[in-house]
Amino acid sequence: MLKETLEQGRQLTDAALDRLIPLETQHPASIHKAMRHSVFAGGKRLRPVLCMEAGRMVAGSLPAGIEELGAALEMLHTYSLIHDDLPALDNDDLRRGRPTCHKAFGEAIAILAGDALQTQAYEVLARLKCPAEARVRIVEEIARGTGTVDGMIGGQVVDLEAEHTRPTAEMLEYIHRSKTAALITASLVSGGLYAGTKDSQVAKLRAFGLAIGLAFQIVDDVLDVTQTSEQLGKTAGKDTASEKATYPALFGIDASVRKAGALVNEAFSELESFGERAETLRELARFLVERKK
Ligand code: IPE
Ligand code: IPE
Ligand code: MG
Ligand code: MG
Ligand code: MG
Repeated sequence: MLKETLEQGRQLTDAALDRLIPLETQHPASIHKAMRHSVFAGGKRLRPVLCMEAGRMVAGSLPAGIEELGAALEMLHTYSLIHDDLPALDNDDLRRGRPTCHKAFGEAIAILAGDALQTQAYEVLARLKCPAEARVRIVEEIARGTGTVDGMIGGQVVDLEAEHTRPTAEMLEYIHRSKTAALITASLVSGGLYAGTKDSQVAKLRAFGLAIGLAFQIVDDVLDVTQTSEQLGKTAGKDTASEKATYPALFGIDASVRKAGALVNEAFSELESFGERAETLRELARFLVERKK
């Protein structure tokens, strides 16, 4: 069941991305090659899947066209990865099992490819096939989730500034909630909005997203310590080498794994009012903490 959800979501997302991102032959070709290099490198597509399953839970079936919203979220996520890997940020050579964008295309094109995926995402959002009011709320939700105040960019700033320091637990939680949980939350909330969810349900989706998003980044930190680069498709052991502010660094691996599990269990209570229909999101949340890459 979970396997089918992930596989079907990946296929729908990939087909939409392929339609929506300019072809490699489109002038100027170098940037379109770079965008496609990073997007089609085998990501898990978890944000689109969470978005689509939130929409399915709210509407009772998969809302038509929601995969374009999923594709826009994946463009924004991939942009954040391209920039995260740049020499000025995490300085990584390997991403999704391939050379990072700047290794393959040079720094200038990698910076522009990240920028381009961001602008492309908003072009796609502007054309979403849902009521105009929902479309505007979706744009706001996603812009905020990737922005500087409790959003992805704000989290990335504090992540960089916390290198080589011993952060407090509060700072660490702020970094993880902002750099990672915010976009995961925006994925769930925007999927719900696309499907016409009520405001009371938006609050539930938001609380669920913040909890599983934090758990997701704790697990990302744990995998950096416990897995190999081959398994991850990105450089293992990088956080320790860069003295990053991570959960395992502050609390140890076992306590971090327990914390992620507890967060997911707590998150389930947010979905109670959705009844049986929430089962797929519960399965996905369990997968987020049990994954090995
Ligand atoms: C990696 O995200 C970056 C984080 C926010 C931890 P994913 O683990 O979802 O990476 P992909 O998309 O599968 O490559
Ligand atoms: C990245 O966190 C979060 C983003 C907003 C991209 P990490 O720096 O831990 O992500 P990885 O481990 O490089 O994928
Ligand atoms: Mg980083
Ligand atoms: Mg990184
Ligand atoms: Mg990491």
